[in-house]
Amino acid sequence: MSAELWGRVDDYIVDRLVDEDAALADALQANAAGGLRPIDVSAAQGKFLHLLVRMSGARRILEVGTLGAYSTIWMAKALPAGGSIVTLEYEPHHAEVARRNIARAGYAERIEVRVGAAAETLPLLAAEQLEPFDFVFIDADKPSNTVYLDWAIKLGRPGTVIVLDNVVRDGQVANAESRDPNVLGSRGAFELIAANPRLSATALQTVGAKGYDGFAVMILD
Ligand code: SAH
Ligand code: DHB
Ligand code: MG
Repeated sequence: MSAELWGRVDDYIVDRLVDEDAALADALQANAAGGLRPIDVSAAQGKFLHLLVRMSGARRILEVGTLGAYSTIWMAKALPAGGSIVTLEYEPHHAEVARRNIARAGYAERIEVRVGAAAETLPLLAAEQLEPFDFVFIDADKPSNTVYLDWAIKLGRPGTVIVLDNVVRDGQVANAESRDPNVLGSRGAFELIAANPRLSATALQTVGAKGYDGFAVMILD
């Protein structure tokens, strides 16, 4: 089976089921024009996040790793009235492109982009003692996965849904010999999740337009 076939099937799925609107398509164009690497979630994955937000009834979302806010906008489209997103991004240029995409999509009032290393902005967020987050999407530097999971737990509440992107890594997650820092970040996340009795989780392998990877999905008890 080839990446080309996975891409064709993703096209088939997206053509029929995934309503990528102008705001989302424009965001991808602006990302490319701004020189951002095309490592956003795929359209089918963005719709999946959107559905998870709707299914969980989430009102307050935290995202770690904004890039150009493609995933952010997919999730924003699922929010009920009064819902909001805080999204954390290290690169000022990514945040600038993201803020423009968010404004163009009409979500400037509901999505806040905070710039800085998430390991530094997460404790600041916690210190504000805002309401807990209902949904957390973690998709930033993979070696810090366990740091971000710890903060997601602290900033969540019983019932909070946490989704962690890129955990399968072309299957390398099952390679105990790997010294790739991203694979080690993924394996560390699995160990943390397995050891925490408050987390009920699974992970799904995915193929598609973005290759072979996967998500971990969990709920906080
Ligand atoms: N969620 C986005 C893709 C994010 S790509 C989407 O699907 O559309 C990963 C992002 O995490 C990049 O923009 C990268 O700059 C950012 N990042 C990397 N290290 C980070 C850190 N320490 N803190 C916050 N963001 C970080
Ligand atoms: C990379 C990061 C991602 O979040 C992703 O979904 C795909 C690739 C990367 O850093 O290469
Ligand atoms: Mg990702």
